[in-house]
Amino acid sequence: MIKVIQLGIGGMGDFWLTIVRRSAAVEYAGYVEVNDEIARQQIAKYDLDPALIFHSLEEALAKVSADAVINVTPPQFHRETCFTALDAGLPVLCEKPLAHTRADAHALADKAASTGVLLMVAQNYRYSAVAATVKAALTSGELGAVSGVAVEFYKAPRLIGFREFMAHPLIVDMAIHHFDMLRYFLGSNPIHVYAHTWNPPWSWYKGDASAVVTAAFANGAHVSYTGSWCAQGRETPWNAHWRFECERGILLVENDQLYLQNVTGVEDRGGYYHTGYGDLMQLPLVEMPLQAQDYLLDEFVQALTSGKPPATTVQDNIHTIDFVFDAVDSADSGAPVARRAAG
Ligand SMILES: NC(=O)c1ccc[n+]([C@@H]2O[C@H](COP(=O)([O-])OP(=O)(O)OC[C@H]3O[C@@H](n4cnc5c(N)ncnc54)[C@H](O)[C@@H]3O)[C@@H](O)[C@H]2O)c1
Repeated sequence: MIKVIQLGIGGMGDFWLTIVRRSAAVEYAGYVEVNDEIARQQIAKYDLDPALIFHSLEEALAKVSADAVINVTPPQFHRETCFTALDAGLPVLCEKPLAHTRADAHALADKAASTGVLLMVAQNYRYSAVAATVKAALTSGELGAVSGVAVEFYKAPRLIGFREFMAHPLIVDMAIHHFDMLRYFLGSNPIHVYAHTWNPPWSWYKGDASAVVTAAFANGAHVSYTGSWCAQGRETPWNAHWRFECERGILLVENDQLYLQNVTGVEDRGGYYHTGYGDLMQLPLVEMPLQAQDYLLDEFVQALTSGKPPATTVQDNIHTIDFVFDAVDSADSGAPVARRAAG
């Protein structure tokens, strides 16, 4: 049994409580919560032992023995809290975004390297049946190379707390999931990023809740991303809507369903050349016994017990972070950000 300390038990921490409690491989050594009212509510809701709730990780480490840490604090606290855990030799499963600044994220990557302790990032959107089906369709080779990707995300959740005050809440706290999916789907990293962001007049965020981002990837794929976190009217799913333009057809993700259409050849119709199309076929979703946070927790446990590294280590995630903060830097400066990236 892996014994964990969870940092932050309100907000998303509430969801993690349900995930950990239904895992047969993990149990709680303790909890850290800085808000006494939230601690009281969660003690009542989940019948938690009040003696296991601490005000800081340092205090928890002094009083209980643990194998690992699950960090569900807001991003501005990730650096300090993960440093404490990694310095104590405890592997961390940390919520995205790894940090609220590029500098903090790179400091965390350096700390993981110098301590040699696992730091895994919770990029759960990779682990849905929809994402797994996209990945399978693209890697099967049927469609050939991806040339263009269009992503559309429109949601209007009334989330309160740290997001309300971020300069770029959409890009840093939400689009990061779609940026990470892009890296996962394409198996490549962006080398050129341009972003334009704004805050609609009706927005309840202080920072920019809407964005248009373009990116060129090292493997030759080109991406356009449009999104808003204070969308008006009809929303997309959290997974967003996707269109992949490929050598031999297209792949669409609409309302969490996948559709594939092959290009069948070129027809000459009276001097005009038209691409011939196959039927639009709906693809069955890949079956996944564990998805999202359940998958991440299982992968984390496997890493701790068998040494098998998870996919979303800090070493991988730093490329997602760089994508995010290249977009932020581009939006702030008005200039594109170019970099040389491997893969
Ligand atoms: N992967 C996802 O789909 C997903 C969804 C929502 C939130 N998140 C991420 O989870 C993290 C937390 O977001 P949230 O919405 O729950 O925020 P929140 O502000 O609603 O809740 C954070 C909780 O952590 C507590 N906390 C704050 N500082 C702490 C500290 N130093 N030590 C211990 N506890 C502390 C707060 O009191 C609160 O209970 C963020 O990084 C966010 O991006 C991820």
